[in-house]
Amino acid sequence: MSGHERRAHGHAEQGRIDAEGVFIRLGQGAEAFEAVQDVSFTVPAGEFVCVLGPSGCGKSTLLGALAGHIAPAHGALTLDGAAISGPHPDRGIVFQHHTLFPWKNVRDNIAFGPKMRGIPKAERHRQADEILELIGLGGFAGRYPKQLSGGMQQRVEIARVLVNHPRLLLMDEPFGALDALTRMMMQELLLDIWTRLRTTIVFITHDIDEALFLADRVLVMSPRPGRIVEDITVPFERPRRAEIVAEPPFGRLKRHCLDLLRPRPGTDTLPRLSPLGAPPHAR
Ligand SMILES: Nc1ncnc2c1ncn2[C@@H]1O[C@H](COP(=O)(O)OP(=O)(O)OP(=O)(O)O)[C@@H](O)[C@H]1O
Ligand SMILES: [Mg+2]
Repeated sequence: MSGHERRAHGHAEQGRIDAEGVFIRLGQGAEAFEAVQDVSFTVPAGEFVCVLGPSGCGKSTLLGALAGHIAPAHGALTLDGAAISGPHPDRGIVFQHHTLFPWKNVRDNIAFGPKMRGIPKAERHRQADEILELIGLGGFAGRYPKQLSGGMQQRVEIARVLVNHPRLLLMDEPFGALDALTRMMMQELLLDIWTRLRTTIVFITHDIDEALFLADRVLVMSPRPGRIVEDITVPFERPRRAEIVAEPPFGRLKRHCLDLLRPRPGTDTLPRLSPLGAPPHAR
């Protein structure tokens, strides 16, 4: 058992989220609006939760609040009972596009967090190499980000967060820019890592297949202002087989999600097109 697995073992009770009546306001003055409205949910320690919703419904805003980048206007947001009041390496976040330092190699990118926490060089390099093995990039420590494929860059990005032993792994459409095949491989890799570490994961996506393949639970959000319209427990057994996405029970649950996400008649928020197909201001 590696140091990471041991640690995860000893802290299995860490990583519980409680959101109670959370409202998040964005914009200033007359432009201010509620991006997230009255959201309540609980994530037990070690659970894998996906947040599914249409573009602009407030998913990233909610994740930003969990990361501690945005404060709710009302309500309580806690991790293991303590209010989330600012960013912390305990709550690592991975975005759609990598934020690796182009001038640092893979090992130094991963070791940057430990470096900031004052961990000596030999030890932080050891930690980086251990994580590189975990994500299947053992031979790539000396490479630079631009020498890696998109999938590998995202793996390093995940490693950079995991090296801090987070209680909470926050992911904002982390595989959204990858091709379909790489994306599938990344989903399986993430499930494999999660099975070993049991870090609580909140994963945002607008891809129904991705949500149902990965999650224990899917929180479905309504269009803006974002509210949780359904909390779906995903019944598929683990470890998840890639084939389940082509089987009838998966199809039925997917259809249910589609019905939840499809805009109701009369509530379509897309800009209206003129008869010529151009938006009015473009004519
Ligand atoms: N800093 C900001 N100031 C004003 N409005 C903002 C700001 N950030 C986001 N918004 C708006 O708030 C709403 C919610 O944005 P958010 O990024 O959380 O949505 P999302 O669900 O993550 O969308 P997507 O799926 O496109 O990433 C959107 O209508 C967006 O245009
Ligand atoms: Mg977003």
